[in-house]
Amino acid sequence: MEDKKTGVTPLIEIRNCTMEFPGVKALDNVNFTLMPGECHALVGENGAGKSTLSKCITGENRMTKGELFVKGEPIKISSYGVRESQSRGIAIVHQEFTLMSDMTGVENIFVGRYEKKHGFIDWKALDKRAQELMDFLQCDVNLHVPVKHLRTAERQLIQLAKALLDDPQIVIFDELTAVLQEKDIQNIFRIIDILKAKGIGIIYISHRLDEVFSCCDSYTVLCDGRYINSGKVEDIDNGKLVKMIIGRELANVYPPINENLGDVILEVKHLTAPKAFRDINIQVRAGEVVGLAGLLGAGKTELVQAIFGNHKIVSGEVLVKGKPVNIKKPYQAIHLGMGLVPDERRTLGLNMKFDIKDNTTLPSMKLFRKLGIFQDHEGEAKAAYDINEKMNLSYYSLWQNVKKLSGGNQQKIVIAKWMLRDTEIFLLDEPTRGIDIGAKFEIYNLIHELTAQNKAVILVSPEMEELIGLCNRIYIMYEGAIMDEVEGERKTQEVIINSLLGVNAE
Ligand SMILES: Nc1ncnc2c1ncn2[C@@H]1O[C@H](COP(=O)(O)OP(=O)(O)OP(=O)(O)O)[C@@H](O)[C@H]1O
Ligand SMILES: [Mg+2]
Repeated sequence: MEDKKTGVTPLIEIRNCTMEFPGVKALDNVNFTLMPGECHALVGENGAGKSTLSKCITGENRMTKGELFVKGEPIKISSYGVRESQSRGIAIVHQEFTLMSDMTGVENIFVGRYEKKHGFIDWKALDKRAQELMDFLQCDVNLHVPVKHLRTAERQLIQLAKALLDDPQIVIFDELTAVLQEKDIQNIFRIIDILKAKGIGIIYISHRLDEVFSCCDSYTVLCDGRYINSGKVEDIDNGKLVKMIIGRELANVYPPINENLGDVILEVKHLTAPKAFRDINIQVRAGEVVGLAGLLGAGKTELVQAIFGNHKIVSGEVLVKGKPVNIKKPYQAIHLGMGLVPDERRTLGLNMKFDIKDNTTLPSMKLFRKLGIFQDHEGEAKAAYDINEKMNLSYYSLWQNVKKLSGGNQQKIVIAKWMLRDTEIFLLDEPTRGIDIGAKFEIYNLIHELTAQNKAVILVSPEMEELIGLCNRIYIMYEGAIMDEVEGERKTQEVIINSLLGVNAE
């Protein structure tokens, strides 16, 4: 059990773990070891089994076969659960949001673990402890409003504070950084260093491989539920890691940018929404990809939501193909040929109660009417099948509930549903968040295909490289206003970052 060379006992050891869900073998004979003081990257494509393995460690999943040792002690799987894993010092920040949206940050951090004084909850003590945690994390989040009013990244930081509450010895970050911006990610690296110095072991799940090289000591690669390889990060490079993950090398990640542009399809003039953005002017041509860059809170999501009729505006106008349009509700935007891939797919992009087929065909139902009244279910299923095959979705049945799909595969469906309809204007808000490197590549190609078909695309992304690689032009937002617009030779990381931070680039 202990490492033969060093004599150190692993914090976690998993041997021959198999985990079967009805109809799916999510893990097949996987081995995994986490040592004290190390940050261990767990990587693999969407659906590879990373979250499932994490949940076997936290006791949320009960492995079908295999052995688990925590700090050298064998665990009795049949009775192992979340409470026991917590008491053994294991904590997790989940990939999906697990906070109660109507409760405040403080309430969420302590839910189920309120300290009492003379039979009453000692709110003062809880506030103090919560503030200490936030100070430790060096972030300034309002802990006294219901978390539904907070931004995605702020909620993620509350999830992190909650995980660290009991001074765990083993912490699992399941795509913690997927919703964070560069500055916050650097902060997470700082926190990881502090945790490592205390001898805490971290399991780090991310699709952003640059992060693996920035903060991880070792790695384990999974593919389709099987163990592929593990070792020290210093012994590999990005190319080798990509090859282990997708089984092939990846050259030219970004397809060529379409230079053959048509007329202006979408125009936004002086658009203003108080507290979100002001006096926004943008244009998008047929065949063009226009990027929106900006820090958290710059107003990008609010802007695309407003164009789609989902965020109230007080002045300004939107023009589609030169004609002013009055979009008050999303269905009107859809009618005008728009499709939105929102940044929070679980609540806004998909209906979690529906299956893959229904989610894919929902906005296009009318296209499948026979004689005006009969629904052509066969046609729908065929179209859903074709588009999802094209997107390389990993699934076993179109009638499978989307809730149980891996995060990246859910995202593919949100994009597929707009591709199926004859959408002309695509509003993509962080479409590759949480998506594996192979699937990202496919989505880049899809965006390229859209432009070749003269569609117009607005792309919001926190990844500078992605914006530079895909966009003809990039608008840079800062605190609700457009500060700069870059194209051609000015389309560089340096110029964009200066504008992002509000520093005049000229
Ligand atoms: N509760 C469940 N019921 C049935 N199948 C499930 C369940 N949870 C996960 N699966 C399946 O198990 C496989 C592994 O999923 P998992 O969520 O572990 O992947 P992942 O590596 O975390 O992917 P991602 O990078 O997209 O988050 C997938 O095929 C998924 O559909
Ligand atoms: Mg996952």
